[in-house]
Amino acid sequence: ESTVPALKDLFANDFRIGAAVNPHTIRTQENLLARHYNSITAENEMKFVSVHPEEGTYTFDEADDLAAFARKHGMALRGHTLVWHNQTGDWLFKDSQGGPASKTLLLERLRSHIQTVVGRYKQDIYAWDVVNEVIADEGDALLRPSKWLDIAGPDFIAKAFEYAHEADPNALLFYNDYNESHPHKRDKIYTLVKSLLEQGVPIHGIGLQAHWNLFDPSLDDIRAAIEKYASLGLQLQLTELDMSVFEFEDKRTDLRVPAPGMLERQAERYEAVFRLLKEYREVISAVTFWGAADDYTWLDDFPVRGRKNWPFLFDEQHQPKPAYDRLVNLTGN
Ligand code: G3I
Repeated sequence: ESTVPALKDLFANDFRIGAAVNPHTIRTQENLLARHYNSITAENEMKFVSVHPEEGTYTFDEADDLAAFARKHGMALRGHTLVWHNQTGDWLFKDSQGGPASKTLLLERLRSHIQTVVGRYKQDIYAWDVVNEVIADEGDALLRPSKWLDIAGPDFIAKAFEYAHEADPNALLFYNDYNESHPHKRDKIYTLVKSLLEQGVPIHGIGLQAHWNLFDPSLDDIRAAIEKYASLGLQLQLTELDMSVFEFEDKRTDLRVPAPGMLERQAERYEAVFRLLKEYREVISAVTFWGAADDYTWLDDFPVRGRKNWPFLFDEQHQPKPAYDRLVNLTGN
């Protein structure tokens, strides 16, 4: 492993290379992370329910450990995430009587959450996923149904960015979403961000989660999404890249090792994707994988519980996969 060039060096003139980490992987993958990545994101540990499980109770131990890991290895740190419909305690949406919180109460709580969390990591975190996944996947509605929307209406989105900017005027503030390259959702994301910009909301970037697979989205759709988002004049980051070896509809559970040909197809796909990303190095400032090596990925449980997946550039022993060799060639190393 130590004989191959470092991933972050392959793309040193293009973008930062990141990985999502958690308390387990900073122990079990420390050498790999330190050698190949120059940015990390907390997979779960900075989410609302993790740092603020109850009103007035903040729990920062795990998040602090991840921030210390980034400092120790001189890595950049991305913050994930301040507003989401998931992994957010029910208490936030209730008043002291157990009825629904008022809009005023919810926004006050949001402001104080953001002040506390963003304020705490001011010296460490250079970019925050302020609002995550509020766009509706299907249909004509722009926004996904959520308790945020029920109580506060669409205002919570602009407010979150304003509060984050107030808490750390130097942080880059991102809107982050998945299925970001599918034309229907892409256009809705564009519409939302454009309207935020027109209202003067402090937003600096769009996060393309990039939970992709060997077949989808097409390179043309990825390109079109990058072009459309970049036309807003914002910087882009791939924030959660993984390349599942299964088509989304494929619910097979029997594979214990990759099927013949799978890793070669994955290698071709990674090469094509990174060739395209390099074309947009002026607008793409970071590419973060949602993990680092195939021994741990959230995809092992999604969409089929307990099914193994192999989405990364490094295998279960942290050795470079065929995809890695393609990237070495692609970058002329
Ligand atoms: O921490 C508890 C543990 O105490 C409990 O025993 C265990 C039993 O299921 O659950 C643990 O919590 C799990 C948590 O990850 C930490 O491991 C949750 O069940 C599980 O749902 C949660 O999944 C996370 C998921 O977000 C939640 O929606 C994944 O790890 C995380 O990779 C994933 O990340 C999201 C991004 O934040 C946003 N974009 C999509 C991406 C993938 O879904």
